[in-house]
Amino acid sequence: MITGRFGGRVAVVTGAGSGLGRAAARRLADEGAEVLLLDRDAVAAHDAAAELPGATAYELDVTDARAVSTTFDHLAARHGTLDALVNNAGVVGEQLPIHLTPDATWTAVMRVNADGAFFVLRAALGVMVAAGRGAVVNMSSSSGLSGKPNLAPYGFSKAGIVGLTRTAAVEYAAHGIRVNAVAPSAVRTPLVEAHIRAAPDPAAMEQRMESQSPLPGMGTPEDVAAVIAFLLSDDAARITGLTVPVDGGYHAT
Ligand SMILES: NC(=O)c1ccc[n+]([C@@H]2O[C@H](COP(=O)([O-])OP(=O)(O)OC[C@H]3O[C@@H](n4cnc5c(N)ncnc54)[C@H](O)[C@@H]3O)[C@@H](O)[C@H]2O)c1
Repeated sequence: MITGRFGGRVAVVTGAGSGLGRAAARRLADEGAEVLLLDRDAVAAHDAAAELPGATAYELDVTDARAVSTTFDHLAARHGTLDALVNNAGVVGEQLPIHLTPDATWTAVMRVNADGAFFVLRAALGVMVAAGRGAVVNMSSSSGLSGKPNLAPYGFSKAGIVGLTRTAAVEYAAHGIRVNAVAPSAVRTPLVEAHIRAAPDPAAMEQRMESQSPLPGMGTPEDVAAVIAFLLSDDAARITGLTVPVDGGYHAT
């Protein structure tokens, strides 16, 4: 158990049933937060919550604006306020060159990674403004900071998160709310396993992902969760509007 930067605080994590969201939820709970795990996969969210003391799972599809608004109203009424948000739910989508990318692929990725991230941020900020405090970490990606082939919708959405983070940070600083983002490179999660399987040459893709950063191998969900916890904590009290690469030095090259 890591001692209590989040004792007495309520933290919400979207996409908390798997991968990075699940690891962030675990880290925040380990540091004393009461964690609310939101996911469109209710079974996964409940499984993840069952591992954590004092945690509660809620089924929520972040692309449903009305459900997001209703859920956050409910959470605020039940918990008084929300101190921390990990705005994490996301998908990669089909990997295709731009000229072969169908409308449906573009739209499916935007619905979750852009619309969903915005709906969740908007709802959480509404609650945090009323309380006069809060901290948010949005989930970007190294694909939002540099070009990766066959990932146009994903890269566009994750670059958008960088801009949304800066805008929200500037807009809400006077309300006592900090907004940052993390931009991980490849971390072995179910999303990345699917990304590798979907590549034309999965073995080559895996090898590329393992060797793309100066620090060897891929990062772990716990590596990213530690940075998320730092940004949400009072240790980062003077940091807002920043997108922090968690990439083994990828962007130093
Ligand atoms: N794994 C990586 O290498 C990596 C790197 C950079 C950024 N990211 C980002 O981190 C986030 C999490 O990725 P992951 O690797 O943990 O993926 P994952 O697939 O393991 O987990 C994603 C979770 O989000 C949930 N989800 C998906 N769409 C949703 C929706 N519409 N509403 C609610 N929940 C939804 C899924 O059910 C799942 O539980 C994503 O935003 C992803 O783009 C991942």
